[in-house]
Amino acid sequence: MILVFLGPPGSGKGTQAKKLTAEKGWPQLSTGDMLRTAISSGSKLGLEAKALMDKGDLVPDSVVVSLIEDRIRATDCKDGFILDGFPRTVSQAQSLDQVLQKIEKKVDQVAFFEMDEKELVTRLSGRRTCTECGKMFHVTFGPFHNPESCEKNPLCNIIQRPDDLPEVITKRLQVYHHSTAPVAEFYRAAKKLKTLNAAEKPESVYQALLKLIG
Ligand code: AP5
Repeated sequence: MILVFLGPPGSGKGTQAKKLTAEKGWPQLSTGDMLRTAISSGSKLGLEAKALMDKGDLVPDSVVVSLIEDRIRATDCKDGFILDGFPRTVSQAQSLDQVLQKIEKKVDQVAFFEMDEKELVTRLSGRRTCTECGKMFHVTFGPFHNPESCEKNPLCNIIQRPDDLPEVITKRLQVYHHSTAPVAEFYRAAKKLKTLNAAEKPESVYQALLKLIG
């Protein structure tokens, strides 16, 4: 099963992908996480990506397509995978089709995470992440961070992502409307798009997701 999780920043794509990966074993391929790993490694690609990500801009299509093309050839992707945050432009969606065609595969389903913009801002501004174990927290909704139960304790390092600051959130939402919203139309035309109400509680969204993928 090849799934695409599409939706605005903060709509819960990463939260649901982690849960589905834990249950089904399909790896979560998040271009955002791949780019953050490149940033941590201090590579040239990471430095260039950081400058764009910190402003809320997209990284060039060629960079993310190449990251995904390499990753989907790994053996753990042979039974399927979840694309989280990719494709984010119509050009990326077209490239993805070409890359998958080369390995005789195709996108099976696209889950479109739909929700109100005001709530997205609340979610993003309250998000905190552990840079060591990758767990996500939320200052208002929980889960809340407990240092005693952190997997990498005492290394846990809770941060607010630089792109979760208010002015960058506004920019990311603008970029989403301009560049990523048309991707939904691309998949609607291909009859692959299914919409989820992402404003529900995480467990309800997950149940809807399971139903959607069948
Ligand atoms: P990326 O890391 O992909 O960020 P994003 O798509 O903006 O998505 P987020 O991680 O912000 O949100 P999410 O939908 O995963 O929500 P989450 O589950 O975390 O990309 C970052 C940057 O990298 C981009 O801006 C761009 O620069 C670059 N980039 C990445 N991919 C690219 C590409 N393909 N092309 C070009 N550039 C690219 O949840 C958010 C918060 O809400 C959490 O605190 C969570 O606990 C909470 N929450 C989740 N679900 C619920 C719920 N149901 N109820 C209440 N709270 C909830």
